[in-house]
Amino acid sequence: MEHSKILEILTSSDEYVSGQALARTLGVTRQAVWKEINALRDRGFQIESVPNRGYRLGSMPDYLVAEAVKRELNTAIIGSELTVLDSVGSTNDYLKQLGNNGCKSGTVVAAREQVSGKGRLGRVWKTKKDENVMFSVLLRPKMAPSEVSAVTPLAGLAVCKALREFTGLDCRIKWPNDVIVGRKKLVGILTEMSAEFDAVEYIIIGIGINVNQSEFPEEIAHKATSLLLETGKKFDKNKLLAAVLNQMEAEFINSNLELSAGALEEYTSLCATVGKTVSFSRGGTKLSGIAAGVAENGELIVMFNDGTECRVNSGEVTAQGIY
Ligand code: BTN
Repeated sequence: MEHSKILEILTSSDEYVSGQALARTLGVTRQAVWKEINALRDRGFQIESVPNRGYRLGSMPDYLVAEAVKRELNTAIIGSELTVLDSVGSTNDYLKQLGNNGCKSGTVVAAREQVSGKGRLGRVWKTKKDENVMFSVLLRPKMAPSEVSAVTPLAGLAVCKALREFTGLDCRIKWPNDVIVGRKKLVGILTEMSAEFDAVEYIIIGIGINVNQSEFPEEIAHKATSLLLETGKKFDKNKLLAAVLNQMEAEFINSNLELSAGALEEYTSLCATVGKTVSFSRGGTKLSGIAAGVAENGELIVMFNDGTECRVNSGEVTAQGIY
């Protein structure tokens, strides 16, 4: 999406800003200001204009707009660089390119549409334009690859807490980091990393939240849901994205990307997998046991019938009664 300086100025002011002041600040003619105001109106921004007072921003369009997200952010790092793209293949892949070119830690890329969105385990993540919230966050922790295992549970915890607060829904986490409501998936998270043997270059946390989607394809309808389907209400995607980024900053940056005792306790109490019978594959064999808890590094502790236990750190775990 084209960046607009005028929009930035109007977004940061509650008062009317005169055409003359805008023209002077930007070093353009008043006619150029007027032209851009009309272009913004065509894009769905409601801009009031009053003779002798100037312009004031009314409502924002109901699709993702960088300035509208930034207005709600109270972060120092996450979202300090934030772009909303009209359409992209995958926000994770796009951000990887920015990462390789040295972008700042905390850079966020969101998209109104993804044409080849990626899910975990090589799956695809498909949604229609402007229905949902899809974005990726890049972090550059000064850590070894073996030390960043807390990112996955912390991401799930941050999104789950933000959505509980923003929507009032009883959101829970399906280990490791799906966010669910009841038995159905609301949020998927795909974390990717670029690292050398002993140092992480960057981590990308890609998040897809089903917000205003009213139906799902038949093959996933039994296990997927959206905020609209759960509440009957449409949500402001810009405010929602900002609420999630604010919570991610609190969870990630303030904890130095470590799963503190407090965060682990919170994660465990919100984790719907704990206490359930779970199944997973190991070395080609299907195993089943009870999810007894979550370890400090985010691994799932599974207890078998014979009293032995094992720890699961990746792959697909099915939890009885969920999916
Ligand atoms: C899952 O399989 O549950 C993970 C889904 C992750 C989807 C998000 S949408 C934004 C980001 N960009 C991608 O291509 N994927 C992630």
